Amino acid sequence: MNRTLVTGGLVLGESGESSAEVLIEGERIAAVAARGSEVAEAWARSGAEVIDASGHYVLPGGVDGHTHMEMPFGGTYASDTFETGTRAAAWGGTTTIVDFAIQPVGGAVREGLDAWHAKADGVCAVDYGFHAILSDVTEDALKELDALVAEGVTSFKLFMAYPGVFYSDDGKILRTMQRAAGNGGLVMMHAENGIAIDVLVEQALAEGRTDPRVHGEVRRALLESEAVHRAVQLSRVAGSPLYVVHVSAEEAVEELVRARDAGLPVFGETCPQYLFLTVDKLAEPDFEGAKYVCSTPLRPEHHQRALWRGLRTGDLSVVSTDHCPFCFSGQKELGRGDFSRIPNGMPGVENRMDLLHQAVVDGRITLRKWVEIACAAPARMFGLYPRKGTLSPGSDADLVVYDPGAEQVISAETHHMNVDYSAYEGTRVRGRVRTVLSRGRVVVDGGAYLGAAGHGRYVPRSTCGYLD
Ligand code: URP
Ligand code: ZN
Ligand code: ZN
Ligand code: ZN
Repeated sequence: MNRTLVTGGLVLGESGESSAEVLIEGERIAAVAARGSEVAEAWARSGAEVIDASGHYVLPGGVDGHTHMEMPFGGTYASDTFETGTRAAAWGGTTTIVDFAIQPVGGAVREGLDAWHAKADGVCAVDYGFHAILSDVTEDALKELDALVAEGVTSFKLFMAYPGVFYSDDGKILRTMQRAAGNGGLVMMHAENGIAIDVLVEQALAEGRTDPRVHGEVRRALLESEAVHRAVQLSRVAGSPLYVVHVSAEEAVEELVRARDAGLPVFGETCPQYLFLTVDKLAEPDFEGAKYVCSTPLRPEHHQRALWRGLRTGDLSVVSTDHCPFCFSGQKELGRGDFSRIPNGMPGVENRMDLLHQAVVDGRITLRKWVEIACAAPARMFGLYPRKGTLSPGSDADLVVYDPGAEQVISAETHHMNVDYSAYEGTRVRGRVRTVLSRGRVVVDGGAYLGAAGHGRYVPRSTCGYLD
């Protein structure tokens, strides 16, 4: 069996930082041993392949619990395939993604899963799991959920937004939550009042307000927090846990805080775009604001303070990307003259680890928090822990050697995502991924890609680790 010793680095563990050696055997972490300890010395002498991490951080590979490779939306498809998107993830230090398989309207949840397996099978650079998007909550679909949980699809996304597309009414939401309460599944909620938003969209378009800026105006923060509030109450009635995805509004965070203070199993996620970008981006000239159209929308700056605070207090548990890239040329442009036709979503799977490290540099979060929100918490939340998200004996050897002093400027010229712009173009960040291992195999090293399509495997998941 292949043996690798990652030596000389500062290991970022959940209980803090330590000068330690990471010993890998085959695809798994064999041991994490104090520098200079007997076991570490013995391994060094045993002919293990050595990765010198001196002057670098050694941390678990990132876990991105929210991506949409090849997602159909607004008459087009997200521009990253599972092949290009997982390769870009690896470049950015993310070694596991959980993507969303979409139940077709009029079809079975299983059909969506089969279709997404077919897209991902044999082409991924890193490991992946699936959530299911329920877009047609029928009695039959509800019955399917028990078996899905048992086989490793342990979370279901529902939409309070997008009437006529993915939308579920309160009755469907309640029924799904009741089912989840019985089978241990986690309901993930896109919390925006889509019925009210569609009224505002219609009124705006009738007034001739058609540019991307209006996207940020009609998707009001109050319509996010109202939906979060409603989702929390429905989950209480059902007795189920709730995970609110892509939280962007201060008022929505306040709803989560209230629920959590009451002891409810309610969790929140936010994304780099809400932490680092503001609604002003939607006003960029020449329709370029369309690059920043996503839902929930970017918000005014004061919301960012609430999001950072939520991460520090733990009221927001996870930072995922909601990576859903559409090229500006030919895709975002579908919405020229009607902002409601701009495909919703932004690229970011490659940038998440670096942006969050910059937040450490800026003093917004600690090193420990970085590893928690980007690696350990998403792994726990989605039933991947301790296989993923931690450097522990027995864990998959998904590991990043990170250079905290390197400077880089984020740009579409140099990124690896299959999309013609970067949402963070020109952003200077300190820190850079040097070496990435996925199940013991070096997939990125010093600016070279050494991985292979098909190395990444499907990972069935356990139920949410915060509910045990
Ligand atoms: O704008 C977004 N977030 N697009 C992806 C689909 C979703 O709602 O997560
Ligand atoms: Zn969503
Ligand atoms: Zn506000
Ligand atoms: Zn999403």
